[in-house]
Amino acid sequence: MRISQLLLPLSASVACVVGITNSSYTIADNYNSTNFFNEFNFFTGQDPTGGFVDYQGEAPANQSGLAGYSNGAIYLGVDHKTVNPAGGRNSVRVTSNKAYTKGLFIADIAHMPAGICGTWPAFWMFGPNWPNSGEIDIIEGVNMQASNSITLHTSEGCSLDGTGSVASSVLASTDCTGNNGCSFKTADPLNFGTGFNAAGGGVYAMDWTSSAIAVYFFPRTSIPADITAGTPNPSGWGMPLARFSGSGCDIDSHFMNQNIVFDTTFCGQWAGQVWSNSTCAALAPTCNAYVGQNPSAFAGAYWLVNYVKVFQNSGMAKRHLGYIRPKLTPYM
Ligand SMILES: *[C@@H]1O[C@H](CO)[C@@H](O)[C@H](O)[C@H]1NC(C)=O
Ligand SMILES: *[C@@H]1O[C@H](CO)[C@@H](O)[C@H](O)[C@H]1NC(C)=O
Ligand SMILES: *[C@@H]1O[C@H](CO)[C@@H](O)[C@H](O)[C@H]1NC(C)=O
Ligand SMILES: *[C@@H]1O[C@H](CO)[C@@H](O)[C@H](O)[C@H]1NC(C)=O
Repeated sequence: MRISQLLLPLSASVACVVGITNSSYTIADNYNSTNFFNEFNFFTGQDPTGGFVDYQGEAPANQSGLAGYSNGAIYLGVDHKTVNPAGGRNSVRVTSNKAYTKGLFIADIAHMPAGICGTWPAFWMFGPNWPNSGEIDIIEGVNMQASNSITLHTSEGCSLDGTGSVASSVLASTDCTGNNGCSFKTADPLNFGTGFNAAGGGVYAMDWTSSAIAVYFFPRTSIPADITAGTPNPSGWGMPLARFSGSGCDIDSHFMNQNIVFDTTFCGQWAGQVWSNSTCAALAPTCNAYVGQNPSAFAGAYWLVNYVKVFQNSGMAKRHLGYIRPKLTPYM
């Protein structure tokens, strides 16, 4: 996979249509290969989750090919050449400049860094003074994990149930407080890691309202037409992969001002902590040792994101100007 700074010319294949839709969501932000790195900043502090990682700033990440635009998508990768990097393996963690309270967040992702021992990728949101503004983990998992974990973290006094989620998703804990959070284990191998990548990824959508936080997943071959058309309407999507709701939590006072984050860390408080109990343990005595000694194992540890779109609920159905996205070219 090579990083090219060249953008695909899109204009020729973009068709403009005017139509009536029952969607009440209007687009607020569209992050794609024309603007993503202007709108997201590079976190360069120490990994708060204790990972064996050295997060790079924008210039070094760009120069070493860890971040950039690639064939009309956003590439976020990791170093896969250095043996035993002293301060942890180089990677990137990017955060949106804008913060959001509620909304519909739609990410079209072609590839994710998962199904690799030692990795801990996440697509998530959180706000200031953790956990007081809450955290929403939309895509997260470690090591060889086969399907997604979807988790919320809050300050005290927030307990949510899983009513309205697909039957195969299990809400393992309902108390969203603190480090453990309330977390769904999902079961579909297409929604994470090796299965996700093999199928060309898909679309995740997170619908955050005052009454529920719901996460939907659509594999590449079954993305709803309203999402492709840019006029999303969750009411037609069927049951979400995970839906957190209930009277045990005032969502508005536990979730606010959250930035969007993509990162890939290694080992640390999750991937590292479960290492000895995972199938990865056969590869090396510790997670850090494996990540340090085996750079080539991480060549596939990259995010390739077609877009992240943020919609706000305008409260009523309205007339939309919609754009039909061009057919995406395959990236691998
Ligand atoms: C990419 O995002 C920009 C800025 O939001 C927008 O103007 C443009 O239409 C988007 N391109 C596509 C193909 O959606
Ligand atoms: C990387 O550097 C090139 C050349 O300076 C620039 O065109 C591009 O926008 C940069 N990309 C990122 C992600 O910073
Ligand atoms: C609204 O749109 C969805 C998806 O496009 C569709 O399934 C649903 O039937 C529509 N509802 C109404 C009231 O038209
Ligand atoms: C590892 O597995 C054992 C046996 O199932 C369990 O008791 C222990 O808590 C696990 N340790 C970790 C760190 O998950």
